[in-house]
Amino acid sequence: MSKKKIVVVGGTGYLGQHLLQALADSPHAYDLAFTFHSTHPPQPLLDAIPTSLPFQVDLKSGNGFPTHLARFSSHFNLPDVVVNCAAISVPRACETDPATAHAINVPSSLVKWLQSFKESSTLLIHLSTDQVYEGEKSFYKEEDVAVPVNVYGKTKVAAEKYISDNCPNFAILRSSIIYGRQTVSPVPKSLPIQWIDGALAKREKVEFFHDEFRCPIYVKDLITIILALTNQWISERKQMQLLLNAGGPDRVSRVQMAEAVAQFRGHETSLIKSVSASTVDRGVKSPADISMDITRLVQTLRINPVSFKDGVRLTLTAETKQ
Ligand SMILES: NC(=O)c1ccc[n+]([C@@H]2O[C@H](COP(=O)([O-])OP(=O)(O)OC[C@H]3O[C@@H](n4cnc5c(N)ncnc54)[C@H](OP(=O)(O)O)[C@@H]3O)[C@@H](O)[C@H]2O)c1
Repeated sequence: MSKKKIVVVGGTGYLGQHLLQALADSPHAYDLAFTFHSTHPPQPLLDAIPTSLPFQVDLKSGNGFPTHLARFSSHFNLPDVVVNCAAISVPRACETDPATAHAINVPSSLVKWLQSFKESSTLLIHLSTDQVYEGEKSFYKEEDVAVPVNVYGKTKVAAEKYISDNCPNFAILRSSIIYGRQTVSPVPKSLPIQWIDGALAKREKVEFFHDEFRCPIYVKDLITIILALTNQWISERKQMQLLLNAGGPDRVSRVQMAEAVAQFRGHETSLIKSVSASTVDRGVKSPADISMDITRLVQTLRINPVSFKDGVRLTLTAETKQ
């Protein structure tokens, strides 16, 4: 049987790198390709997934998606699965340049590329966000109306609509904050658990919000979800139109996140200064409570993400071993 072909769009980002490594280490032995955008993939990433095929793509212009798949590579024909991890994922950057954020975050060029395959048999797994929700109540369900409060959330809602209107076979994952160990080639943005740990290690008071709630998801759980969807499509070939909240089981405030890190690391919890999010101007509106109900995820895929406390332990233990 020929190897199944998977393209990771945004393979150089935080989730993309973790996903590529998991796919490369999988016993299923997939044929892998991935996209990069701003700079050539760093050597540590190429070394970690030596047989994969990188190609440069600009989602904004659509440049780079190969028009003839044979030219893409002699052995790499139609992809079975495309996972879109590419985005302008920093809310403040979206707020500064809404037109660019929209052009990149709504993956119309990617969807058009998929539509160009005459015999369409590709599953698109697309990463959305909990920031599609307004943040005015706890434990949002997928059927709750999406009322984003910032440009980032608006571009993600537009992306979800574009995909549902134009793709016959997709799974959209509304991810909460993704946390876990650093990637094989470190990403430039600061990672949440490592940032908290570093800040508290200085033994100075640090402010955390007591009134902003999320359901952070451990990166390995998100990858388990993506692999489960991939393998379901490959083995059953039953088209899907799925929308899933992808969060961890715990609704935590920023203060509670900091407390979990402090407890594991033995930092003084008195260094955690509890403040209201309303006291700080971050240049972008941030929804207050976008905690999510993950019943549909658990029932559909039979996956139970780890608790936040366990995820923190796994993250910091993995960082120490690196
Ligand atoms: N990280 C989180 O906590 C979180 C939470 C909720 C949802 N999400 C969503 O999950 C997905 C993955 O997030 P992430 O944190 O892994 O993102 P990330 O680290 O910011 O990576 C973004 C990726 O997008 C690519 N990219 C940027 N502009 C592009 C363009 N014009 N054309 C093509 N590719 C472009 C980047 O390529 P280069 O590096 O080569 O430029 C990079 O590979 C995103 O959709 C994000 O919105 C993330």
